[in-house]
Amino acid sequence: MSSCDTCPSNGSCSTEQKKTCTIENNPLNHVKKIIGVMSGKGGVGKSTVSALLAYELLRNGYKVGLLDADITGPSIPRLVKLQNKRITSSSEKGMTPITAAGGLKVMSTNFLVENEDSPVLWRGPIIGNLVKQFWTDVIWGELDYLIVDMPPGTADVAITVMQSLPMSGIIMVTVPQDMVSMIVSKAVHMAEKMNVPVLGVVENMSYIKCPHCNETIDMFEYSGENFMSENVKILCKLPMSQELIHFGKTGITGVSDDILSEFSSVINVVTDLK
Ligand SMILES: Nc1ncnc2c1ncn2[C@@H]1O[C@H](COP(=O)(O)OP(=O)(O)O)[C@@H](O)[C@H]1O
Ligand SMILES: [Mg+2]
Repeated sequence: MSSCDTCPSNGSCSTEQKKTCTIENNPLNHVKKIIGVMSGKGGVGKSTVSALLAYELLRNGYKVGLLDADITGPSIPRLVKLQNKRITSSSEKGMTPITAAGGLKVMSTNFLVENEDSPVLWRGPIIGNLVKQFWTDVIWGELDYLIVDMPPGTADVAITVMQSLPMSGIIMVTVPQDMVSMIVSKAVHMAEKMNVPVLGVVENMSYIKCPHCNETIDMFEYSGENFMSENVKILCKLPMSQELIHFGKTGITGVSDDILSEFSSVINVVTDLK
């Protein structure tokens, strides 16, 4: 196995973990923290929250990478305006990620397929290997944070991602619907079982604000607080908003101060990580 020196978990894992660890670290990479964005369910806003998190950290002066680990449904390239890019630079030391506006380093399956809409018809083990390669064979270089947009669900690929990357913590995304919350709580339990701390929950599409009278309308009449375990807290509630729908077109500058200030609790919990 390659050295622990460049591993974000270096110094924090037990002797027992060291014995069973199979994570291969690229000696060129010095990534301080890896943060997963997860939900257990698709369509709740994982990718949007991942991009928002990456850009807000960047705006706070950190060096940030964004890894699209949703191999079969990669949506990060569109969110960061890189949908027409393909990887052109690679050597025996690894592939060079593509740089988005502001210096964000990005890796996605869509940078490797012929066309943006070419499907990836691979089975679980191959997908899992690709995720590992996105860690070992990509030259991320010096990063304060690598944000990982996790695949939906708690099956095969999500498990591989959690086992293959030395994650520092997970931000869980949910919408305030009974059924979604039940599925997301499975993901919370999965992260706990795999010893990855859940840093908190983003309740997305939580409400709508009337553009005329500013009244807040709850969409789903259900609050995630009902199911969250004592040690997993809701960090912020984001509205259903056109600004977030158009994130891929406008970028972070299109997002209002109201939303960014609500989201600052997520930034704080990530930057407070020791
Ligand atoms: N707060 C929000 N308000 C409105 N639309 C949103 C919001 N968050 C996400 N969306 C939209 O919902 C869809 C799914 O979001 P996405 O981030 O791709 O979810 P996931 O990665 O969990 O599948 C996208 O079309 C996205 O633009
Ligand atoms: Mg997604």
